[in-house]
Amino acid sequence: MCGIVGYVGKSDCVDLLLDSLRRLEYRGYDSAGMAVFESDTISIVKKRGRLNNLIKSLNEGYRPCGHCGIGHTRWATHGEPSDINSHPHNSGNVTIVHNGIIENYLQIKKYLKNKGYRFETETDSETVAKLLDYNYKDNPIDAIAKTAKQLEGSYALGILFLDRPNEIYAIRKNSPLIVGKGKDGNFIASDVPAIIKHTREYILLDQNEIAIVKDNSIKFIDFYGKNIEKEILTANWNVESAEKNGFPHFMIKEINEQPEAIRRCISPRIKQGNLDLGLSNLSDEKFSSFEKIHIVACGTAMHAGMVGKYVIEKLARIPVDVDIASEFRYKNPIISTKDLVIIISQSGETADSLAALRLAKERSVFTLAIVNVVGSSIAREADSVFYTWAGPEISVASTKAYTVQITSLYMLAIKLGEISKTLSNDEICELCNEIQDIPNKIKYILKNDDNILQCAKTLQNSHDIFFIGRGVDYCISLESSLKLKEISYIHSEAYAAGELKHGTISLIENNTPVIAIATQTDLYAKTISNVKEVKSRGANVLLLCTDKSEVDSNASDLVIRIPNANNEILLPLYSIVPLQMFAYHTAVLKGCDVDKPRNLAKSVTVE
Ligand code: F6R
Repeated sequence: MCGIVGYVGKSDCVDLLLDSLRRLEYRGYDSAGMAVFESDTISIVKKRGRLNNLIKSLNEGYRPCGHCGIGHTRWATHGEPSDINSHPHNSGNVTIVHNGIIENYLQIKKYLKNKGYRFETETDSETVAKLLDYNYKDNPIDAIAKTAKQLEGSYALGILFLDRPNEIYAIRKNSPLIVGKGKDGNFIASDVPAIIKHTREYILLDQNEIAIVKDNSIKFIDFYGKNIEKEILTANWNVESAEKNGFPHFMIKEINEQPEAIRRCISPRIKQGNLDLGLSNLSDEKFSSFEKIHIVACGTAMHAGMVGKYVIEKLARIPVDVDIASEFRYKNPIISTKDLVIIISQSGETADSLAALRLAKERSVFTLAIVNVVGSSIAREADSVFYTWAGPEISVASTKAYTVQITSLYMLAIKLGEISKTLSNDEICELCNEIQDIPNKIKYILKNDDNILQCAKTLQNSHDIFFIGRGVDYCISLESSLKLKEISYIHSEAYAAGELKHGTISLIENNTPVIAIATQTDLYAKTISNVKEVKSRGANVLLLCTDKSEVDSNASDLVIRIPNANNEILLPLYSIVPLQMFAYHTAVLKGCDVDKPRNLAKSVTVE
């Protein structure tokens, strides 16, 4: 939530900061602003609403000109989206941009009011600017270190000191921040896509480290002024990966990237029917010691975990609990040192998932992170990391990150099945071969776009849509329903098909749309019985089934077919794709802002 960026170098920084903010807008779009060093002053321009409002204001009003500046795009937490609450915030000598939440801001505010400070905004971030200003005598490092010790909560901060022209200072705690090393200048940013156009070289800032970024040097020091040597990393993807490449939206681009993303996830791990996960700190002996698995995640990643539960329990016969991270962290969970905690996260920065990971580690439980963003906090802090290699996911609604998370869980389940000997070598080989064919099958599904668009046209004006399914199809119902409602704003719910008659069926009336997912042979007849129950009460049914299923024309009004799989446990990866496309087309038909749905942000770094 919130994106921050900073640049110091040879170029004029305004356009450069705007371009980076455009790439960070998925982290929040309630307001945008920038602060630029201009001779002996720092000019601030900030505007409520989308980045275009800031651009308009710069075009029509004052446009600063300078070579060093910081920028911000906001996802509002404290204080409504307004010009005054927008970042940067200034106090005396200090100007800052902030991503995170200062939990003790009220105490700090009171403390500073007693020192004579006056507050203008409702934000927690303003207290940071004022506290830094209060602590600043003549040494930025002392001021930053002192301030950091007084702040509780999470922060990534880009800081300018008026009397230190053309220098950017940065620090972080529990919110991500990288430092980019360019040819014609250097950067700070919340993530790599913000600066990838200018450089692929970056350094991860760790907790309790201060970065001093100038046009020709980058220095890292600790709170006591000691230099820290840092490794320079190189992003293994380029600017095209972070752009739309001819697609109208990132979401549809990312849906179409799924075959390639899954291939990237599989290919280093499955070769000629053999599985080698190559996980650090996770020997076969360690794997065989786990008696129970807890999968902990949020939102879509949690839905991937639910598929994982079915798959691991079926293939490896190990009990799996799935928890929402924000619940797990406060419920005093029953976890033991014989358990494995798997944290799933695309961004690797989700505050609740990170807290759940830390809780497991505090209890000495082994943690494995299934993460997309390399070097993210969750990836760095977990005992072992399984990178999903999906490439950057920009659309707020997650698609390719979800399918690679499920792909990773398949591979993990096979490994566990191999170790617990619940799978024979032949079964492992067959599963691995079939997994390698998934990208081709998804390519084939993506060609069915016309039929899916027709379904979206038929249902686009619905007020409520119900999704039903049994077993893994229930997990897909949950994810499909989330995808549809988050981007199209159509109210939607997902139910285990057998659960409908325990209450929900009273909501079914003439023409209520029900999307039934029925891909599993052993549950097909049962789900079709539930379909008939809603059909006889007037529901308008869209049935998603495999191309081998016999469809009773009385049981459905619309049909989407997916290819069959020898091992039906793999079908979730096929069934979700048309439903992602359905959600996408519905939102586009309704004129919604698909990539940036209202009130949402991509990376939820606050709890
Ligand atoms: C929905 C969506 C969210 C995320 C959730 C967790 O489309 O993207 O529900 O899945 O916020 O985010 P990560 O995976 O980054 O931890």
